Amino acid sequence: MLVTLSEILRDANERHYAVGAFNCLSVENVMGAIEAAEQLSSPIIIQLAEVQFPEAPMELMAPLFLQAARRSSVPVCVHLDHGQSVETCRRAIQLGFTSVMFDGAALPFEDNVAVTREVTDMAKAAGVDVEAELGKVGDSGADTADVFTDVEESVRFVQATGIDALAIAIGNLHGHYVHTPQLNIRRLIEIHEANRLPLVLHGGSGTSVDDFKACIHHGICKINVATAIQRGIMQRITERLSQHPDEGYIPLKQVMISASREVVAEHIHLFESIDRCP
Ligand code: 13P
Repeated sequence: MLVTLSEILRDANERHYAVGAFNCLSVENVMGAIEAAEQLSSPIIIQLAEVQFPEAPMELMAPLFLQAARRSSVPVCVHLDHGQSVETCRRAIQLGFTSVMFDGAALPFEDNVAVTREVTDMAKAAGVDVEAELGKVGDSGADTADVFTDVEESVRFVQATGIDALAIAIGNLHGHYVHTPQLNIRRLIEIHEANRLPLVLHGGSGTSVDDFKACIHHGICKINVATAIQRGIMQRITERLSQHPDEGYIPLKQVMISASREVVAEHIHLFESIDRCP
């Protein structure tokens, strides 16, 4: 069933687990992800980032995401990841997404507040939820020390914008990690104590099990995973083709579905969202 972000995160916030948010770029990706959630009775978020539009246009992906969510037996939130403008968020809302992220983390603080507020006003009028980001989640290899989310700023930001979930920077990075990162759990605890809304961890791929567990037990309710699924699918296709060089297209589609299912299932176990659907 199709649900909003705040609906899907409420129980996670109360009972200290995280709902996985998986970037899906194909029908195989979506099918595998939803199958994993249904088999494990877990809520799930399927999402698409604006940088992914060239390979997976939002207008084409939206009907697929929405139909997969509506016919599913588990709660599914359809989310825009890293929207870069008010206009992109408006298009996502018009297409039926139940949640949008406006990413103004690179803007000066006051500008981030102003544009996020504009997105929140627009989204709330349509019954849609909003995630926003404060602090910078870098790309692999970046120096992270001076870009952590500031606790006092986070309180002002949440109050001024009226968002439903806050993405924070605590040493997490997008993409392939060169070294396994060590997240700043102390900063997470401080942000969580100061703000009771659900917190979001971006850059989930490559995080250690210990850090995942510390995160979900201290306020992270949504964890974004993209690279791990793409890697998993590529790996399975490569293995299959090395064993069966003449493998046909349809069996390869099955390989993609099951690879997506396996990677998502692995994360559902890690995030402790298994058996959370009544
Ligand atoms: P990873 O590619 O590191 O899993 O990050 C995904 C993400 O944060 C999408 O917003």
